[in-house]
Amino acid sequence: MNKRDVIVIGAGAAGLFCAAQAGQRGRNVEVLDHAKKVGRKILMSGGGRCNFTNMYTGPENFLSANPHYCKSALNQYTQWDFIGLVNDYNIAYHEKTLGQLFCDDSASQIVDLLLNECRKANATVTTRCEILQIEKHEEGFYLNTSLGEYQCESLVIATGGLSMPKLGATPFGYKVAEQFGLNVLPTRAGLVPFTLPPELKEPLAAISGISQPVRTACNNTDFLEDLLITHRGLSGPAVLQISSYWEGGEVSIDLSPQEDIHERLNTAKENQPNITLKTFLGTCFAKRLAETLIDVMAMPNVPLKQLNQKQLTDIARQLHHWQVKPSGTEGYRTAEVTLGGVNTDGLSSKTMEAKQVPGLFFIGEVVDVTGWLGGYNFQWAWSSGWVAGQHA
Ligand code: FDA
Repeated sequence: MNKRDVIVIGAGAAGLFCAAQAGQRGRNVEVLDHAKKVGRKILMSGGGRCNFTNMYTGPENFLSANPHYCKSALNQYTQWDFIGLVNDYNIAYHEKTLGQLFCDDSASQIVDLLLNECRKANATVTTRCEILQIEKHEEGFYLNTSLGEYQCESLVIATGGLSMPKLGATPFGYKVAEQFGLNVLPTRAGLVPFTLPPELKEPLAAISGISQPVRTACNNTDFLEDLLITHRGLSGPAVLQISSYWEGGEVSIDLSPQEDIHERLNTAKENQPNITLKTFLGTCFAKRLAETLIDVMAMPNVPLKQLNQKQLTDIARQLHHWQVKPSGTEGYRTAEVTLGGVNTDGLSSKTMEAKQVPGLFFIGEVVDVTGWLGGYNFQWAWSSGWVAGQHA
């Protein structure tokens, strides 16, 4: 029987960070993971450069059935605390856009930081370990694993969500929650590209690769970022962001959020009455996008002088309020995160411990707290991991 004070299941962002914190308090800690390699999502993140936090992180950047839950952890361990740690390791980084901080060199520097913090705190990390069974007794938790039996006082579940099963994602954490009587909210893919019905997918696929700054909106939320047309549908930050708020139905896309198309159309009609709508739209968008929009929106491609005020208003409205009804999303295969998960009602926001099960903690993405695109999800992993690390 391997006896530990704390066992953390899941050697991802939240689990490794939590283990280092608990170890620094003098707790005897072991992290167990079924994968061959630790921190695989970190290594893949940010195109290999890991968008490790966001300078403007606040509770408003997270989705949860209880939007207040994340506040305590985010206050206890802030983005500035993590940035301080990154500075201590002399990891060079830059702000890409909107407060998003990326490593200059490689995401592996963040994994190395986490492993080094674990090493300093004498927290051991064991891979290729399947957890077969968990039981709670008076003395603590008993784990039956493919590497033998373990006993611990505190058990931290940091097994993440369901996105990217190829990287080792499993529903393990939700099952443990249910085993101990915690409620698990329905899960769905977030930060994920939209798929489209054939009548839209086919014409757009022909211009895949084109990107356009837009404003996407649904469910009273909107994002001003880039849209990317792909051969499967719509992607890019504007789409990934709004996908987390999409519950079926239409998404409104403003294809020209910075410039009033109606005004431009009127000016162009006055100054260049003989140019066609296609030529005009070619001055607002990439030419191939302009052509495709005319087709998919069934606009009259005639000289501007032939368009009356109502037609000009309609054209502007279609471009500022393009109503797209996705047929679905690409799902967990490509989603960056999982929405829903362990209901925060059953957890203490101050410690991440299960209210009814002393010694059992849930941190990171397995919990029903999901960040926007832009480094917020890692910050949640650091903040929730740090907090649990002070109490486990
Ligand atoms: P995480 O998924 O990191 O770790 C869970 C660990 O548990 C894994 O090591 C897994 O092997 C292990 N595990 C699972 N089931 C198990 C079982 N049954 N037994 C034992 N171990 C088990 N976020 C961000 O802020 N900035 C970014 O740049 C990106 N980029 C990004 C790119 C891609 C491609 C993806 C898929 C995701 C992102 N994200 C992101 C999101 C971010 O990666 C994610 O929110 C965090 O990794 C969540 O951290 P956790 O530690 O909770 O889970």
